[in-house]
Amino acid sequence: MKCRITQDVSAAAELIRNGELVAFATETVYGLGANALDPNAVARIFEVKQRPHFDPLIVHVAEIDSLAEFTTGLSTQAQRLAERFWPGPLTLVLPKQSVIPDLVTSGLDSVAIRIPAHPMARELLNAAGLPIAAPSANKFGCLSPTQAQHVAEQLGDEIPMILEGGPCQVGVESTVIQCNEDSIVLLRPGGISLEDIEACAGKVRLARIEDYAETKSQVSPGMLPRHYAPGTRLHLIDQLDQIPDVKTIGVLSLYPLSETILAGREFAAQEILSPTGDLKMAAANLFTALRNLDQSGVECIVALRLPERGLGRTINNRLERAAY
Ligand code: TXA
Ligand code: MG
Repeated sequence: MKCRITQDVSAAAELIRNGELVAFATETVYGLGANALDPNAVARIFEVKQRPHFDPLIVHVAEIDSLAEFTTGLSTQAQRLAERFWPGPLTLVLPKQSVIPDLVTSGLDSVAIRIPAHPMARELLNAAGLPIAAPSANKFGCLSPTQAQHVAEQLGDEIPMILEGGPCQVGVESTVIQCNEDSIVLLRPGGISLEDIEACAGKVRLARIEDYAETKSQVSPGMLPRHYAPGTRLHLIDQLDQIPDVKTIGVLSLYPLSETILAGREFAAQEILSPTGDLKMAAANLFTALRNLDQSGVECIVALRLPERGLGRTINNRLERAAY
């Protein structure tokens, strides 16, 4: 493995300034970063991730003041969301300025912007003095990395450095929102719940996967139905009696399953997202749990749908797309 795992922020910033890629910790998932203003560096992200060019990237900035350089401004609703949730797991899709290369936005006239909360990500942005384009630091379509080690396993041979910032506290990607004149649209459920967004900005319209699945060149290509998938086949079920009839099964559930529910059944592997049923904790554990089940050698993974509220909605979204 040629990649260095380190906490040396200035070395990481130097690589970014030189047009190289650096994976770095954020509070949501690890990102694969490059200078957002350098089309060659950005092209490397697509190459290393094997990501299709129709899927645009999120641009990370340190301060709200630098937004004016990259976008034509925030609407009132966007401003309200930004003040409430930045820095944090919120991405706003905003009208772009021409300094942002078309490659970053897949030719769209909007750019997705996020101010991350992780102290190391903020230090990196400040030290680099540049906006950093960063998708999740995994191969396209695979599980997102929430630990430096996850990144090393998939990309260790292809990038020079991983900035190690511990396990990601939020554990699922940011909530992606587009504020139009007449509506606020949720493009991707994420680390901030729909309830919290609506409490701040009013009613939100949900973009549905079906709206985008057919066209493939679309408002938010991250809506592709199959994504975030482990190598092992995953079934998303509502009740345990829907378990497929195969020999070795790995089960993913929010709570520990009671003896009555289990009814004498044994599973080859099991992952519990939160013993107390805490949905935030469940989100933080999601991708590591899926990785563990994937690596356990079972024939299939069975995930029990979570309650459709708070971050449960985000987790169900990822599980649906892993199961598709
Ligand atoms: O938490 C996160 O958002 C992580 C960390 C690293 O910040 N990043 C991340 O990036 O999840 P990525 O590339 O895996 O997801 C970017 C999402 C996709 O769903 C993409 O389609 C959407 O943002 N997106 C980016 N630019 C867009 C645009 N101009 N209009 C609509 N959707 C856009
Ligand atoms: Mg991703």
